[in-house]
Amino acid sequence: MTKETILITGVTGYIGFKVLRIALAQGYRVRGVVRKEEQISKIKSHPLMDGLIGGVEFVVIPDMGKAGAFDPVLDGISAIIHTDDYIRDIVQPPLDMESSLLKSALNTPSVRRVVITSSVVTLIPLSWLASSDVDTVFTSRDLNTDTAPPYHNAMEAYWASKTLARKHVHEFLSQKKPHFDIIQLLPSVVLGPDDWATDLETLFVGTRAMIMPIVQGKVMEAPVVGVPVLVDDVALAHVDAIKPSVPGNKDYILSSNTPDGIEWNSILDIAQQHFPGEVASGLLQCTGSLPTRRWKLDTSDTEKAFGWKCTSFEDTMRKLLQQYITLIKESGASL
Ligand SMILES: NC(=O)c1ccc[n+]([C@@H]2O[C@H](COP(=O)([O-])OP(=O)(O)OC[C@H]3O[C@@H](n4cnc5c(N)ncnc54)[C@H](OP(=O)(O)O)[C@@H]3O)[C@@H](O)[C@H]2O)c1
Repeated sequence: MTKETILITGVTGYIGFKVLRIALAQGYRVRGVVRKEEQISKIKSHPLMDGLIGGVEFVVIPDMGKAGAFDPVLDGISAIIHTDDYIRDIVQPPLDMESSLLKSALNTPSVRRVVITSSVVTLIPLSWLASSDVDTVFTSRDLNTDTAPPYHNAMEAYWASKTLARKHVHEFLSQKKPHFDIIQLLPSVVLGPDDWATDLETLFVGTRAMIMPIVQGKVMEAPVVGVPVLVDDVALAHVDAIKPSVPGNKDYILSSNTPDGIEWNSILDIAQQHFPGEVASGLLQCTGSLPTRRWKLDTSDTEKAFGWKCTSFEDTMRKLLQQYITLIKESGASL
């Protein structure tokens, strides 16, 4: 059976590249959106794309926030997975991209579903992190109401940007009543191997840079929310979310070890248990620490809709530590 043709943005990214590979492996025909022509050969030549190239075509959209940017590329598309983002310190570009994409989808009768990568940061105001509340269990119905500028740092801007984008989708649905439905996925702290990492410098980016120094013996002082999720689960959820069996016009939290979450310092036990030789040799150091900001999340809606639970934190870290060890050994670095 020939499957549908779907459009995926962000295919050069940590999450988006895995979404691309899972969709192709499941037999979808994919139109992948990149910003620059040279990214196409980089993706095609990735060893993990072996045997998958036949199912994908690429389109280049240099500025996805420009009105009408998606008009020429949606022909025959039945579902859109929008993982793209600009997660630095500016609020407006993600909103422009989302608006431009949704407006083009309105003009495309074949589109039946749009899946958008949101985040759990949209559930709470950033200020909640400094509160003493560790008991409230947050659900996908929660929504941060504190998005007003000024934004004093990149984190505040990211919090506001993701929240405004999620709200914008809710308003779009109620005002435009589109012929397609929309699912927003809210991952927590995404961890696990990165298919693009070739050395420690490229592995230690984003959320991994906040977590991994613990196995280098670093003692960190700023707490991180104890809500992890494996990147492969996040990617699989994006592809599963285009299936009609998953109810649309809903938001779903993606996080493991719910509702209580995890303690980051348990990484040291996981290292001991799964890599005793590397701990003994000093390649993994068990003298670091990272404080945890507890945050309870309810993922029962997600598990019911998708029919599976997220991989345990232990397995997530085992996979990430394995990639870390492999990259160090390949580099021949001495400790
Ligand atoms: N990583 C996490 O812990 C986490 C947690 C919750 C939610 N999320 C959300 O998941 C999504 C993907 O995150 P990720 O970790 O996979 O990020 P990533 O690895 O940094 O990938 C980001 C993607 O966005 C593209 N991009 C960057 N700037 C852009 C711009 N100005 N216009 C258009 N595209 C642009 C990049 O394309 P180029 O290669 O062309 O730059 C890349 O494909 C984001 O929406 C993020 O907010 C991530």
